[in-house]
Amino acid sequence: MDAGPVQYDERECETAPSERERRVDADTSVCRTLQGAEMRLRVAHLPIFLVCFLSVPLAMAQQVAATPPMGWNSWNHFAEKVSDPVVRAAADALVSSGMRDAGYVYVNIDDAWQGKRDEKGIIHSNEKFPDMKALADYVHAKGLKLGIYSSPGPKTCAGFEGSYGHEGQDAQTYAAWGIDYLKYDLCSFGEMLLKEPPQEAFQTMVDAYKKMHEALQKTGRPIAFSLCQYGVAAVWRWGPDVGGNLWRTTGDINDTYDHMAEIGFGQAGLAKYAKPGHWNDPDMLEVGNGGMKPDEYRTHMSLWAILAAPLLAGNDLSNMTPETLAMLTNREVIAIDQDTAGMQGDRFWAEGPYEIWVKPLADGSKAVGLFNRADPLAGSAPIKIAFKDLGFQGAVKVRDIWNAKDLGVMEEYVASVPGHGVVLLRVK
Ligand code: GLA
Repeated sequence: MDAGPVQYDERECETAPSERERRVDADTSVCRTLQGAEMRLRVAHLPIFLVCFLSVPLAMAQQVAATPPMGWNSWNHFAEKVSDPVVRAAADALVSSGMRDAGYVYVNIDDAWQGKRDEKGIIHSNEKFPDMKALADYVHAKGLKLGIYSSPGPKTCAGFEGSYGHEGQDAQTYAAWGIDYLKYDLCSFGEMLLKEPPQEAFQTMVDAYKKMHEALQKTGRPIAFSLCQYGVAAVWRWGPDVGGNLWRTTGDINDTYDHMAEIGFGQAGLAKYAKPGHWNDPDMLEVGNGGMKPDEYRTHMSLWAILAAPLLAGNDLSNMTPETLAMLTNREVIAIDQDTAGMQGDRFWAEGPYEIWVKPLADGSKAVGLFNRADPLAGSAPIKIAFKDLGFQGAVKVRDIWNAKDLGVMEEYVASVPGHGVVLLRVK
């Protein structure tokens, strides 16, 4: 799509699932009705010497999410059972398992940490989180960062206290606790939007995200800002303008191949909106939660790496198998995701259930995912890639990432790809 007035992409709405009936209504109505114009930030005119000698080095030193954020989030496995001990155990496991050293540094508390506001309006954590500052200190002492969750609405999706009317206060509270990441989830704000005419509703939503961004900025603490409104109103077009470091492009993932694949392969066309500091977010990982087969989890990881997606593990890190850990910490897969060029990959070719996705990498090589979406009962299928079609001249060096094997120098390759599986190559 070209830049210009934003029209909601109906396809995204139809595929955006939700676990809560109440929100389905809100979401789909918002989907149907929202339209909007692209936001443009006014850039202040700074003296050139300031830009060169002060602002740029400062900004670079502080760039949040220069590569897609990596870490862990409590929701996919623990949901409302999250607690201080659960979060500390996740932090411990990130270190002892080697995941921190592989890049997983954010420890993100999702919904259900919130208690009540006091008479001054200050939010307090609930009894499961006796001392948020102490928890942040604990997490920081391990070389990790702490994330938290709220909503622009009065209530979060799980019915806890949202930030509506308390944005500035909440941002200050988070900063005082030592929070490094905020996931800001539309939830009950979506219901409020239904009371407004479509064009106003769009602007109201944009303003709500911008308001929290400005409140976070005012704290002076670098806090990654994660937009969660399920991809409605083409958020990838305006997410960066409201300070989003990442924005969900879809409804909630779950631990099934069909839904993971629907989300992952549904990201085609969004690559141009990703760049360092600003990422499309097809939702958190389900690897290790038990609902998918190893080939399916490899597809999940490979696709998310090619998509330059945030890698937020969503499993119980204290109880994971060596296979799960190996999959999550495969350094070559992570290198594809975290590549410094920050170019999201995209679908290159598709024929029936067979797809090839390609991501250009900083050193001139390309990550190539050969995916077979057919039923595993149909067995493996050959998928061929001619490297000249990817812009290479002559023979190229080909490495099979999951098998950690150099395949040799060649002009084309035919992979045997199992149903629901992938062969992930790095080609140079
Ligand atoms: C929404 C989000 C999920 C999770 C839950 C918490 O459904 O999309 O990722 O944060 O809310 O209630």
